[in-house]
Amino acid sequence: MHPCFVDNDIFIVVVSALNRSCSAITLLRKRKEKVTRHPTITTESGRYFLTDRIREEVDFWATRQSEGIRPPPVQKPVPQNSKIIPLPDRATWSIPPCDLQTAIANRESHRRFTAEPLSLDELAFLLWATQGVRKELHEAAVLRTVPSAGCRHPFETYLVVLRVGGLAEGIYRYLPLAHSLVFERTVESLPTHLTAAARGQSFAGQAAVTFIWTAIPERTEWRYAEASYKVIALDAGHVCQNLYLACEAISAGTCAIAAYEQTLVDNLLGVNGNEEFSIYMAPVGKVAK
Ligand SMILES: Cc1cc2nc3c(=O)[nH]c(=O)nc-3n(C[C@H](O)[C@H](O)[C@H](O)COP(=O)(O)O)c2cc1C
Repeated sequence: MHPCFVDNDIFIVVVSALNRSCSAITLLRKRKEKVTRHPTITTESGRYFLTDRIREEVDFWATRQSEGIRPPPVQKPVPQNSKIIPLPDRATWSIPPCDLQTAIANRESHRRFTAEPLSLDELAFLLWATQGVRKELHEAAVLRTVPSAGCRHPFETYLVVLRVGGLAEGIYRYLPLAHSLVFERTVESLPTHLTAAARGQSFAGQAAVTFIWTAIPERTEWRYAEASYKVIALDAGHVCQNLYLACEAISAGTCAIAAYEQTLVDNLLGVNGNEEFSIYMAPVGKVAK
């Protein structure tokens, strides 16, 4: 039927729907062009990354470990005169027992948090669950509460603290060897900066604390050279899953974030984006029952 015979309101609805789908198609075309023009990553190279073919090609006799070079430190050094905050440990914290089956069954992504702060006990528990040290083997390796390819543990954990009992708002870093925090810096309008760094995902700025993991690839490269990158990404998944499960024990919730502004997050943490860069983040807060 010709549009002039259709009721005017219906006509407007149909035309605006058509316009919306045309703009969506244009957007999709633009997005597709952007992807296919990418200078280095193609579908082929991306899929190759997900396979383990690299292991057939890397010369493991030529890695830094095989050359007898000392391993990088398992934990990023702490600048002199830093403010260190010791954390409660398993013997002293008060965390209610939590049935593992229940935690696994209830785990879900949470993007709405209450205004209730986390206690220092709860934060200490989440840090232990995600990167806590089980055993120090030697200077090159510590066993933790999560697995890691070759026991290389390439991550540092930064915290953007907004509401944690006993801690001032600011950026902190976890020191797994001493189960402590080091205070990194204060940032004006921190929730606003955090939300922008999370590509406008506003639940980050509303969380009590946001975990941001950086990778120091050299730790894994020392043993695996170019075969490091896939396993670093796999390692990150284990860390975040433990955070999800641990949150279940303390009436808290989290949501993994992989969509973030690389430069904004790296600048917020004060890392250089090359030897160390952010790889994953997860805002945490109390959730309504
Ligand atoms: C690697 C990864 C990246 C994710 N990135 C985001 C993100 O940037 N923003 C977001 O809101 N959710 C993100 N999520 C959460 C997923 O959307 C969520 O896990 C999925 O919808 C399934 O819901 P569930 O976790 O409640 O089972 C991410 C999850 C994973 C595992």
